Amino acid sequence: MPVPGPGYSITIRVEAPPSASAAGDLTSAVGRVGGVITAFDVVESHADRVVVDITCNATSAEHANEITEALGELPGVAVRKVSDRTFLIHLGGKLEVHSKVALRNRDDLSRAYTPGVARVCQAIAANPEDARRLTIKRNTVAVVTDGSAVLGLGNIGPAAALPVMEGKAVLFKKFADVDAWPIVLDTQDTDEIIRTVELIAPAYAGINLEDIAAPRCFEIEARLREKLDIPVFHDDQHGTAIVVVAALRNALKVVGKSLDQCKIVVCGVGAAGSAIIRLLLHRKPADIVAVDINGIVHADRGDLDSNLEQIAANTNKDGMSGSLHDALVGADVFIGVSAPNLFGAEQVKTMAKDAVVFALANPDPEIDPIEAQQYAAVVATGRSDYPNQINNVLAFPGVFRGLLDAHARTITDDMLLAAADAIADVSNGERINASFIVPSVFDAAVAPAVAEAVRKAAQH
Ligand SMILES: NC(=O)c1ccc[n+]([C@@H]2O[C@H](COP(=O)([O-])OP(=O)(O)OC[C@H]3O[C@@H](n4cnc5c(N)ncnc54)[C@H](O)[C@@H]3O)[C@@H](O)[C@H]2O)c1
Repeated sequence: MPVPGPGYSITIRVEAPPSASAAGDLTSAVGRVGGVITAFDVVESHADRVVVDITCNATSAEHANEITEALGELPGVAVRKVSDRTFLIHLGGKLEVHSKVALRNRDDLSRAYTPGVARVCQAIAANPEDARRLTIKRNTVAVVTDGSAVLGLGNIGPAAALPVMEGKAVLFKKFADVDAWPIVLDTQDTDEIIRTVELIAPAYAGINLEDIAAPRCFEIEARLREKLDIPVFHDDQHGTAIVVVAALRNALKVVGKSLDQCKIVVCGVGAAGSAIIRLLLHRKPADIVAVDINGIVHADRGDLDSNLEQIAANTNKDGMSGSLHDALVGADVFIGVSAPNLFGAEQVKTMAKDAVVFALANPDPEIDPIEAQQYAAVVATGRSDYPNQINNVLAFPGVFRGLLDAHARTITDDMLLAAADAIADVSNGERINASFIVPSVFDAAVAPAVAEAVRKAAQH
């Protein structure tokens, strides 16, 4: 059941009679249809009427309409205007360029631009490594998408993906002071994407691939890693894997189990699931059973692509076949990065004692977390309205900060594992419990800790 949140926040400007009961009538009308008021401002007052801005959270665009209609139906009340606050913060985009140097006079101009800049260009031409010292390359990351798998919205194309990429760039800046720039590509051809990124790479110290559909994303990342001398990181894969490995380490601490005794079911073997499995395998769990839309992944299934073949070769030691429900029997851990509402409490009951359930499909998880809690000892989701939110923001800003600080040319699984341990350690010690296995995304200690761990691993 979704709860009203700031993602659907509207400000409704209404004209109402100046009676003593007007404010109460307005707020009750919003409350009756389930809206949550966050601000009530009288913006004009006259002898015969007041004009009020009511800001409230809704659960959806339809719910926002319902709230507006409920206000409009009150006697003597007229709705003047409805502003969607989410759209308001997107007007003109969320990013702009600031100059770091002042241009006050001819002297400044001659150094920042011609003729002075020519000597800097020559220095870089003579020693290309100087680009990291003398240009924006030092601190700049490209956030690259083809718009083919944007959030849960699917293939909506490059222009429609831009708000997400801008948001990502804002997060990079806020959490790790990384200057990230959105690059949305008008192609979904693997070779064209690779060639384009290769061509723009000189200005960047890292490439963050974003919202590119599986299985294309695997090939694009692998080939770019071979071609480029800067780190290439597909956040939907590795950002998720890092935070899952961190959260799992702390969840197992809560239930007193060690990974080498755990059977883990990973449901969803796309971008996120494949990377989670690969990273978890480094930690040597007792077994991982992968499940996708066609059931348990095993070597004899006959429909496996090269990614699934590789997964099958490294998981499912007992050669199980069947459905997700079959896989869950006796499992210690469920990690879902697949689709909504795939199982219920009765299946959690079949898992091992003190089961851990990470139901991360967004926006609706594989199992309702309230239902999962009936039998699971620890439950996590991708949602901000439940405890234990598995959020990539915990990983990618610090990861890139560390890579940039180390002048890293590649990214390795050791660095990803170091990032995972750093996240787990931030929330460690006395603070860990079933409702707190990962730190808050606003915990200021996270990004520096991740950056430091990645920097050390990169320089190792
Ligand atoms: N931090 C997070 O919480 C987080 C991070 C990454 C992804 N996700 C969520 O995980 C989901 C998958 O993301 P992705 O980028 O890997 O997608 P993807 O399209 O690359 O992969 C989806 C996988 O789910 C499987 N699947 C689909 N329907 C299924 C079903 N009914 N039963 C079993 N398996 C099924 C598909 O076969 C595929 O292997 C999305 O809902 C996404 O929002 C959450």
